[in-house]
Amino acid sequence: MNDLATHDLANLEADLAARIAAAPDTTSLEAVRVEALGKTGTISALLKTLGSMSPDERRTQGPLINGLRDRVATAIAKRRQALEDAELDARLAAGRLDLTLPGPPRRRGAVHPTMQVMDEMIAVFAEMGFSLAEGPDIEDDFHNFTALNFPPRHPAREMHDTFFFNRGPDGERKLLRTHTSPVQVRTMQKTNAPPTASWITAGREPPICIISPGRTYRCDSDATHTPMFHQIEGLVIDRAIHMGHLKWTLDAFIARFFELPSVVTRFRPHHFPFTEPSAEMDVQCEVSGGEVKIGQGEQWSEIVGCGMVHPKVLANCGLDPDEWQGFAFGFGVDRLARLKYGMPDLRDMFASDVRWLAHYGFSAFADPNPASGLS
Ligand code: DAH
Repeated sequence: MNDLATHDLANLEADLAARIAAAPDTTSLEAVRVEALGKTGTISALLKTLGSMSPDERRTQGPLINGLRDRVATAIAKRRQALEDAELDARLAAGRLDLTLPGPPRRRGAVHPTMQVMDEMIAVFAEMGFSLAEGPDIEDDFHNFTALNFPPRHPAREMHDTFFFNRGPDGERKLLRTHTSPVQVRTMQKTNAPPTASWITAGREPPICIISPGRTYRCDSDATHTPMFHQIEGLVIDRAIHMGHLKWTLDAFIARFFELPSVVTRFRPHHFPFTEPSAEMDVQCEVSGGEVKIGQGEQWSEIVGCGMVHPKVLANCGLDPDEWQGFAFGFGVDRLARLKYGMPDLRDMFASDVRWLAHYGFSAFADPNPASGLS
């Protein structure tokens, strides 16, 4: 190699340049690169000869060979770029992307009917001017029973099949709230929650017009009872609220909720410790083949417990019963869901069976109409 003539280098370069320029694709270009610059390539072999040259020779040959290597490497890189661009252009020109093809099917979750109905109920009450109040699931005896006029050791407390906790260090026995009625108490009390509480119920001066949706718990399980269920409480307090307001409010709600122009309802006398008088409201319906049709027929379906807030409850919450009065009501949300959408067994609603949910669930992107039907 020592006598490698300059024109041999020039020939080699010209030959490589021609082959690089002629390489039709990146694969053949890579073959040229390996032949010239690979481990055993022609230029690599030339570079290796530098080691055995005299310093004088190296001084003249070194720049020539290195220069050749650099120019060939640059030419290959340039050609590669051009070939890749051309290949991409060719692929884009040849391929067609059909944007109308549907994507692969994806499993979508569904909104649980209880949550759907809860949202529908909240939307209707919000339209009527009610605001939302919330309370904790873990309650104390005062808010769940005492303030609501359940006498101490009265059987009514057992009636609720309460889940109690062990006594705490302060001797107090907490419980899982058996109804949403304690939120009435928390709302009427003026100061009731530490500001850091994760649930919010701003105690407020009357007039009060709130609903309170949430989970409730009783030690009970059959086709129409589950240990956890959902209620929506309502409370309206002002100076001159009477049963007529209660009846209109519930009638208007029920008609809107069931998407009917009007409904026929009746008050049936009942007893709740926290209301006087107390009633259950029934709605006229037709039951045929296990299906309940609201707004027609000769039968009655119980739909909500209600009454005028007992003066003792007002007093227990710091309101003067000679100045304030009002009504309250408590809906079973799961029961309303079953009535509206026809689920036969309440226990299925909380069994977490995805087949059940796929059947009874709602699209998360449903019609924004609060009283929209099955998806
Ligand atoms: N708390 C009652 C229950 O769980 C339901 C109820 C009835 C709530 C009458 C009320 C009411 O506010 O006035 O059975």
